[in-house]
Amino acid sequence: MKGIILAGGKGTRLYPMTKVVSKQLLPIYDKPLIYYPLSVLLLAGIKEVLIISSPDAIDKYHELLGDGARLGVRFEYKVQDTPRGLADAFILGEEFIGNDSVCLILGDNVFYGQDLTRAMKRAMTNDGATIFGYPVKDARAFGVVEFDKDMNVVSIEEKPENPKSNYAVPGLYFYDNDVVEIAKNVKPSKRGEIEITAVNNEYLRRGKLKVQLFGRGMAWLDTGTPEGMLKASEYVEAVQSRQGFYVSCIEEIAWRRGFITTEQLIKLGEELKMTEYGEYLISLAKGE
Ligand code: G1P
Repeated sequence: MKGIILAGGKGTRLYPMTKVVSKQLLPIYDKPLIYYPLSVLLLAGIKEVLIISSPDAIDKYHELLGDGARLGVRFEYKVQDTPRGLADAFILGEEFIGNDSVCLILGDNVFYGQDLTRAMKRAMTNDGATIFGYPVKDARAFGVVEFDKDMNVVSIEEKPENPKSNYAVPGLYFYDNDVVEIAKNVKPSKRGEIEITAVNNEYLRRGKLKVQLFGRGMAWLDTGTPEGMLKASEYVEAVQSRQGFYVSCIEEIAWRRGFITTEQLIKLGEELKMTEYGEYLISLAKGE
């Protein structure tokens, strides 16, 4: 399975912070935002990742993450000239995806919780599409799952004024290879975008959409506003300082997944040894 991180967009809701810096390069506590979705793909065991961003920002992502070899994986980069909608990721990514299945994660989505790896493993063995439902107080800003009385999925609605449930669809999606052809046939919505929700509804129509529901023990954090970014940072700080384990540490995950050796981890730690982050990597390698 391949992975795609969509890190495009203008981030206008975060101006002036994002006037000259791409949103997913901004920090959430002690690491760039894009580390969080990247860590999710690595946790799923995905080793080939396409990073899509705007013409201005793509080189910065490349500078930050390189070709992936340092983490024992492979990164590719692709420019999105204009933000045309999430489904565009599969059109831009067609060649990269090839004949494989693919997981798309949005570059500004932060997930944390014990259930996550298990849920993703299940999604990866399913054919068709798997998306998730996450309970939120106000679902109006999201894709929203509508259920019938037996909890069968009836439809997914994009940003409904009157949500039919409180289950929002987070920006983490698993698809078989049909997604490329489906995305190409999506018609732009009222807001002029080729919506991921249209892709999901097409899988539903084909009888091939699974929706897994997350419960209370999962964190899916919003980073769309300054307040959301601050709260997400506080969450990460609270977990890290309490447990001593880092949240979404890509080097640690690459090492635990066996993508890199302990010697490689020490090297990565030494490069950052002026920081607690670097010390953490070295302490992991030494088994402290
Ligand atoms: C997008 C999707 C929406 C999904 C959300 C998750 O919204 O269109 O279905 O629930 O991401 O972050 P957007 O970021 O375009 O507002």
